[in-house]
Amino acid sequence: RKPVSLPRLMEMHARGEKITMLTAYDATFAAIADQAGVDCILVGDSLGMVCQGRHSTVGVTMEEMRYHTACVARGVRRVQGTAWVVADLPFGSYQQSHEQALGNAVILMEAGAHMVKLEGGGWTAETVHFLTQRGIPVCGHLGLTPQTVHALGGYRVQGRSDDAAQTLREHAQALADAGAQLLVLEMVPVALAASLTQALQSCATIGIGAGVGTAGQVLVLHDMLGMNIGKMPKFVRNFMQGSESVANAMQTYVQAVKQRQFPIDAEHAWS
Ligand code: KIV
Ligand code: NA
Repeated sequence: RKPVSLPRLMEMHARGEKITMLTAYDATFAAIADQAGVDCILVGDSLGMVCQGRHSTVGVTMEEMRYHTACVARGVRRVQGTAWVVADLPFGSYQQSHEQALGNAVILMEAGAHMVKLEGGGWTAETVHFLTQRGIPVCGHLGLTPQTVHALGGYRVQGRSDDAAQTLREHAQALADAGAQLLVLEMVPVALAASLTQALQSCATIGIGAGVGTAGQVLVLHDMLGMNIGKMPKFVRNFMQGSESVANAMQTYVQAVKQRQFPIDAEHAWS
């Protein structure tokens, strides 16, 4: 396979080929995911929970994100070098100013990321514009945004009321207009996620708990391997079940997403 690039991701979105994404935090899992055919690897700040045992992503630092991004990027390059690597800007690393966001995005790009991800809508559009104008590909993240869990009042479905759905639509369009080319939609009602996916042509939606109507799907690696130490979210399927290896579980995930057999709206999402 040729390395995944932004034009290729946009072309997949236009053609309706599902984009597959999994998180990874170290070189070995990243290399195995790459070899299993996963299109995008996200160095998620979910490493705060998965690797560090935290209850939220709020305490994850830039230095920790830089370290895990470097590990993942090395793992991808060392074996196959195909996957598109996205790295999370952690809480507090982009809120202060455009310059702060740029400086921290550069650190993650220098560590080997191809794209950075930041959470939230509204004020973030200007930051995204600032970054994309300067050659940094950006992935947005709307719906349930874990870094602001304390402001949201818990981990629950977002965009359910008419007002909340309208705000989410406006934020998504503004992020796309600002140059974001991927957009994670987390715990957003199925119909809203599907209609946003249709509306945004220059930006591919990546769903998690958002139904089958998005341009792509993402899961936290440990969740899909059945290795969750807390409560398993409803939107997860354990792909280790019936698989003989981690590589095999990842291949099954890729196939299920590409063939639209995962997620199942009635099982893994909300209406
Ligand atoms: O940190 C993470 O793993 C994420 C995904 C759940 C989208 O942001
Ligand atoms: Na994240």
